[in-house]
Amino acid sequence: MDSFLIEGGLPLRGEVQISGSKNAVLPIMAATLLTSETCVVRRVPDLSDVAFMAKILRSLGAEVTLENGTLTVRAANISGFGDYELIRKMRGSICILGPLLARLKDARVSLPGGCVIGTRPIDLHLKGLRALGAQVEVDGGYVRVHAPRLDGQMVFLGGRVGPTVLGTANVMMAAVLAEGVTVIESAACEPEVIDLAHFLIAMGAKISGAGSPTMTITGVKELHGAEHEVIADRIEAGTFAAAALATGGEVILRGARPDHLGAVLDKLREAGAQIGSSAGALTVKGSGVIRPIDITTMPYSGFPTDMQAQLMAVACLAPGTSIISERIFESRFMHASELMRLGADIAIEGPSAIVKGGQPLSGAPVMASDLRASAALVIAGLSAGGSTQVNRVYHLDRGYERMELKLQALGARIQRVPGE
Ligand code: UD1
Repeated sequence: MDSFLIEGGLPLRGEVQISGSKNAVLPIMAATLLTSETCVVRRVPDLSDVAFMAKILRSLGAEVTLENGTLTVRAANISGFGDYELIRKMRGSICILGPLLARLKDARVSLPGGCVIGTRPIDLHLKGLRALGAQVEVDGGYVRVHAPRLDGQMVFLGGRVGPTVLGTANVMMAAVLAEGVTVIESAACEPEVIDLAHFLIAMGAKISGAGSPTMTITGVKELHGAEHEVIADRIEAGTFAAAALATGGEVILRGARPDHLGAVLDKLREAGAQIGSSAGALTVKGSGVIRPIDITTMPYSGFPTDMQAQLMAVACLAPGTSIISERIFESRFMHASELMRLGADIAIEGPSAIVKGGQPLSGAPVMASDLRASAALVIAGLSAGGSTQVNRVYHLDRGYERMELKLQALGARIQRVPGE
């Protein structure tokens, strides 16, 4: 397994191009199953999760090519029975369920795995599909959904902690080919849901209200092929912004969308970053002083759980006490113990982490436990004195395109060390 070797202490300086969004492209790839015609998706990031989703689409019978950021899918003859092992390995793959049900009226996929960040149920996805008329059976690690026809309905998708992103995607993708009108209440408002809606509309779907808690979908008989360019990855942009602040550098984030980063930029400013925006770019500058922060993760447009770990790394550098509360995923603090190996002072109290920051961090070997936790360890390593080895960076490769090369171009001393 590859690792990163980081010699910390250098400020990041320069420009970085933000890639297409991982969380937008995965459901968009699933949506290509809704038509037998060819779909072309551009600005597709080169990530292991994307390669994995391409494998899943191929295993269902689709013809898929992925070259230089352009994905072409033709799902002319597909099966609704997914490969058990493939699907189980990636949480994001659950969003093939809605399109397969809509197109074939019968689908069976394994229950998904993915990042180890708490229990990640799919009860809301299934509730939504049931409301449209699907029979749902869960047996032997598989979920099977089938329905002779799907009928539009009012579907309430709010859960214990609010809306579900992939659950909203699944129900939207089933509803686009249902008879009549579906209204999703408490729909997820994330920019990735809006991007999916734009792709579906380009395919001929009738959707209004995407990006608001009430989405209306009027079913159509069939969808056609379409072209689409994926939005920039707001979490990658936020991660580089946090790294710029943590290292006291200045980074221009090309292609970053400030309109998708409101809560993140607000907290970075509070922590001491100077942020400017110009056409198609954001500039983030560390002022040399980092201040403590108070963060609670929430559904969009609140502070994203996918940026919580990276901001915890920043909080470790701020003299004083920061409080970081995780409200979306209960076990998402595995990075805390690894940050402590670098000298951080963090106490976990229920859903909150109390970070007493300001002591200089010093490099150490650490273990990446999930995608965003790994990013936090890289940020901490870049700002620590001495060398940090981040092991198991395959987690990072799931969601960050060539992260070490982008960081090298910003002046960081970071190397990938190939494992056996
Ligand atoms: C997506 C993102 C992930 C992000 C998360 C929250 C992708 C590929 N992944 O994951 O990066 O961290 O949104 O912004 O887009 N829940 C239920 N029942 C369900 C579904 C979810 O109780 O059926 C709960 C979850 O346990 C969690 C909360 O709802 O507490 C939000 O999860 P959800 O929005 O569904 O996350 P994902 O869509 O899986």
